[in-house]
Amino acid sequence: MRCRGYVHFRERTSCPTSEVYRKPVMTRRTNDEYRETGRGGTARPARVAFFGDLNGGPGRRVLAARIEEVRRDHAPDLIIANAENLRNGSGITPDLYRTIRDLGIDGVTLGDHVYRDRRIIPLLEDPDEPICRPANLSNDAPGKRGFRLPLPSDTGGGDFLVFNLLGRVYMGLPANDPFQTADELIAANPNARGILIDAHMEATAEKAALAFHLDGRVSAVLGTHTHVPTADHRILTRGTAFQSDVGMCGPFASIIGRDPEQVIRHMRTSVHTPYEMGSGDERLCGTLVTFRTSSRLASEIKPFQYGDRIEPAEEPSGQVL
Ligand SMILES: [Fe+2]
Ligand SMILES: [Fe+2]
Repeated sequence: MRCRGYVHFRERTSCPTSEVYRKPVMTRRTNDEYRETGRGGTARPARVAFFGDLNGGPGRRVLAARIEEVRRDHAPDLIIANAENLRNGSGITPDLYRTIRDLGIDGVTLGDHVYRDRRIIPLLEDPDEPICRPANLSNDAPGKRGFRLPLPSDTGGGDFLVFNLLGRVYMGLPANDPFQTADELIAANPNARGILIDAHMEATAEKAALAFHLDGRVSAVLGTHTHVPTADHRILTRGTAFQSDVGMCGPFASIIGRDPEQVIRHMRTSVHTPYEMGSGDERLCGTLVTFRTSSRLASEIKPFQYGDRIEPAEEPSGQVL
């Protein structure tokens, strides 16, 4: 069996300006080494951070307080965020979209709460705004099915494609086949140098099935919607990074973002109570995916959390003069 890496190096020898041409590598490489070094180019890996459901005022606050630490610690080239809960737990407005864009979010995905505030629709339809509706809604649903962002030239450059898919298991909003929609969008974007799919689904098995279906064709399938970070992050056999849920950015002293008292009262009495946002123990949950633009495939997936409860501030040990 021929080594894919060797074949690509042989192909590169036809280019006289190539580093590989001057220093041909003839050894076989493992699949992991192949992923790490791409097709023999000298471009560095690209790094994309993805934040889970930004949830209401607490989500905005923790984003504003922590995004610079994420930049310092992980040096992402792009930051994408799911923001379907940004408007007090449900939906997003144009002002809130601009607020998080100004804070440093490069692109925004949504979910089943996409149209809770209809004022977002003109931005969803604007081809210049990096915000999209779930791709597998009806063709008559307003808004773009995805967006592309440019990758830095030293990673190899090219477009990074982002789209969001709704699940069909235990989800309130009817959606088309997410597997079929993903296949269509991947086929329609053959030149994308990286692809992130936000799997906005309730059932972990549906998210995993989507990830395995797409393994080797996209950089990452990262789950949202359940608001709870999962510990199953991994790179699948053919190079796609996967995590069932990256977790929310919002108050963890809550029931997935809502005031516990009201949720418990509703569950115990069956009498519907409007849910307010919860508060306290605010955390930013996200995941960093490192991948090569030459293959689109991932070499690393690293979840992270920032919050006062999990990262207590250190007391200064002495007076600073
Ligand atoms: Fe959702
Ligand atoms: Fe959500």
